[in-house]
Amino acid sequence: MGRGVGFGKVILFNEHFVVHGVPGIAAALDKRLVCETVLEPGQGWVLDDLRDPELKQGFEREWDKFKGAVDAILGAAGVDTSANRIRIRLRGDVLPASGMGWSAAFSVALARAVADEFGLNLTDEQIFQLALEGERVYHGLPSGIDPLVATVGGVVWFVKDKPNRFEKLKLPIPMRIVVAYSGVPSDTAKAVAGVRERKEQFKQKYDQIFEEANALVNEAKAALGSGNWERVGELMNRNHRLLQEIEVSCEVLDRMVGLARSAGALGAKLTGGGLGGCVVALTPDEELQEQVAQKFDEAGYRAVRALVGGST
Ligand code: PMV
Repeated sequence: MGRGVGFGKVILFNEHFVVHGVPGIAAALDKRLVCETVLEPGQGWVLDDLRDPELKQGFEREWDKFKGAVDAILGAAGVDTSANRIRIRLRGDVLPASGMGWSAAFSVALARAVADEFGLNLTDEQIFQLALEGERVYHGLPSGIDPLVATVGGVVWFVKDKPNRFEKLKLPIPMRIVVAYSGVPSDTAKAVAGVRERKEQFKQKYDQIFEEANALVNEAKAALGSGNWERVGELMNRNHRLLQEIEVSCEVLDRMVGLARSAGALGAKLTGGGLGGCVVALTPDEELQEQVAQKFDEAGYRAVRALVGGST
């Protein structure tokens, strides 16, 4: 039997900008997916989805991508599925909402399980590369920030480069956040393509915004490192404004960001691909976290209370 874990994630700073080489910061959630593999007579692979029924809703619509990702990961790992059938057992509590890194968490969990099953002895870098094959099926040409944080956990500073660069950031104490789902699925590939087009069309304007995003993320790194949550919150608000300027926010996300701020969050922004998907709100103490999460719940948005920069 093989077993592997992948973390759910939230992007704290610079989604989209990160695709073009500007640093981004993401954090692993204290939510994860677990894959177990069992070899049995037969060929190919089958899935035992052992997650809570509410986490499986709508999964059949994603089946083609899911199947493509499994095939890509098994293929890249050199697994021969004609010798045995692989039963994949899936457990975990990552919400399948665009923005929380479900596909990356799954891809990493499966890559780790397969490596364990076949004694492949892979480094984290190799696990990341395998998981990236799965992510490509879901997202086209991802920056890699999602599978990286799903692999190594913690809070990660990431630069897409050749080779990619990353650094784990140490927070003085773990940070409480709320991630809330708008109910509108985000099409990351479409949002990324839109930014790419506009970046060429409005070069001067976009160059300036990208420069601001670059300066901002450096400030955010320092603020996170010193536990200056007020400052982190302000920078999240500014980051949301930049994301609005590159047109990846939308009415529902702006409304949710406003709701979080009026409920007392120190900062709030969209997180992930945008045009739907999720927002993240900074709520350092437990009472505030509960207050903001309840406001989201009351308004009909699914809220996830999470702690980042702790043991994950
Ligand atoms: O939609 P998500 O949660 O997979 O996040 C996408 C983040 C982007 O920066 C928009 C794309 C990428 O590959 O980094």
